[in-house]
Amino acid sequence: MESIGYYNGTFAPMEQLVIPALDRGLYFGDGVYEALRVERHRFFALQEHLARLRESLALLRIPFSMTNERLTAILQEAADRVDSDSQQIYVQVTRGTAIRTHAFPEGAEANLLIFSRGVALADLQEYRRVIVLPDTRWSHCNIKTLNLIPSVLAAQAAKERGCAEAVFHKGGIVSECSSSNLLLLKDGVLRTAPADERILPGVTRAQFLMLARELSVPVDETAFTLDEMESADELMITSTSAHGLPVGFVDDKPVCGRDEALLRRLQRAYRAHFWDCVAGG
Ligand code: PDD
Repeated sequence: MESIGYYNGTFAPMEQLVIPALDRGLYFGDGVYEALRVERHRFFALQEHLARLRESLALLRIPFSMTNERLTAILQEAADRVDSDSQQIYVQVTRGTAIRTHAFPEGAEANLLIFSRGVALADLQEYRRVIVLPDTRWSHCNIKTLNLIPSVLAAQAAKERGCAEAVFHKGGIVSECSSSNLLLLKDGVLRTAPADERILPGVTRAQFLMLARELSVPVDETAFTLDEMESADELMITSTSAHGLPVGFVDDKPVCGRDEALLRRLQRAYRAHFWDCVAGG
């Protein structure tokens, strides 16, 4: 199959999945999600994604009794039903199905939605364009909730300007992008905003920091300003789907390209680590 969907025990082609209108994910966005890469039917960084899913669930106080073993078995079955060697799998857990009242419904059980489809890995070579926008999101961006309207609007604004991403800032301090983190290289140091409530603690971000340390590249988790971003030697957008994309233009202004050797070294280290993980387990 080209794609697969799953909802509370039922597999069906993605386009045919039926979800009850009273799923709180639908009318409140009352749920959390993860997006993972699957290569040759093996997951990348599964434990990290499951840990973040549990953390998001705990922060929203959504009870979800399914064990990681059971969830992993369902994810594996979903991935195995798709022919593609290169997939992106989406997992969503909502607070359950109930008549619409704002406070948590009594006795509702969490709903599990999964879908997977073939998505090729991004090309890491070409420098991308980004726009800068104010970060109008809420103050708990560390939770991977379904409430993504500011990100959706920002991604659309970026697309309309021919850009790959929108970089968010609050009062001139860069947080992250609409659906990725932002890493900066300056004078041989890899810098990115700290993993606090202003950003999603990206799995890819953490892996880049780990690999940099292994390569003896100093890392600095302190926030940077828009000016510092524009005078960076290199910038990289990181996410599950993007891996690490170089940035060459900010709001149509040419930037970066001053430490391509280190940029490419980090990209290569990430791709090598990625293939090792999906090959080895
Ligand atoms: N987005 N920041 C935001 C706001 C994100 O939505 C994402 C991921 C990231 C990067 O996280 P990770 O490296 O764990 O993918 C950072 C996913 C891909 C999505 O929404 O589909």
